[in-house]
Amino acid sequence: MVKVLNHALIKHKLSIMREEKTSNYIFKQNLDEIAMLMAYEVTKDYPLKEKEIETPICKTTGYELDKDIILVPILRAGVGLVDGFRRIIPTAKVGHIGMYRDEETLIPHEYYAKFPKGLESAKVIVLDPMLATGGSADMAIQNIKDRGAKDIELVCLVGAPEGVKYIEEHHPDVKLTLAALDEKLNDKGYIVPGLGDAGDRLFGTN
Ligand code: PRP
Ligand code: URA
Repeated sequence: MVKVLNHALIKHKLSIMREEKTSNYIFKQNLDEIAMLMAYEVTKDYPLKEKEIETPICKTTGYELDKDIILVPILRAGVGLVDGFRRIIPTAKVGHIGMYRDEETLIPHEYYAKFPKGLESAKVIVLDPMLATGGSADMAIQNIKDRGAKDIELVCLVGAPEGVKYIEEHHPDVKLTLAALDEKLNDKGYIVPGLGDAGDRLFGTN
């Protein structure tokens, strides 16, 4: 269940982000803009419920989203996708899950988790710019499932085939949306061609 978005603006902005010479500020600005475009795309077919509304002219049938939306960025880099998603879905609540990869083993370690109420009935959107081995996203999704969430999707900017396969095998029920599917991982676990370390470029720790 992987969908790679095909959108001219996303390709244009992602190319700016990939360039090594791009500053932290422009990197964040483009991530914000891509996040808005991705939020628009992933929510396109969300279920609606009908409700009666009253226009200044007459009563008619209106719509509202059937489920609450909870965004769950994987710290740190996932935070960079939150502003754009919240601009498009301002009623979304936000849970956080903190995770870092051991640079040698590439095994993720969880260091923080806090969620709003209502995971069981909400549409939960896990956000992380990078899907490399898939270990961090897998651990985050499992944590959220253990807390009762039933309707989860994963939205990443750049994915490696290794990470996509890992998530498809471990979470066949989770829809995955990417802005780009890259070629491979290198021997240090970085996505090729990728964009480098997303967290470092976002927060200026590079
Ligand atoms: C990065 C990225 C993902 C993870 C992807 O986080 O933001 O969370 O690596 O790698 P994986 O698919 O192999 O698990 P990192 O551990 O560098 O932490 P940071 O966001 O704090 O920089
Ligand atoms: N995390 C990143 O930030 N970048 C990669 O290429 C892989 C993992």
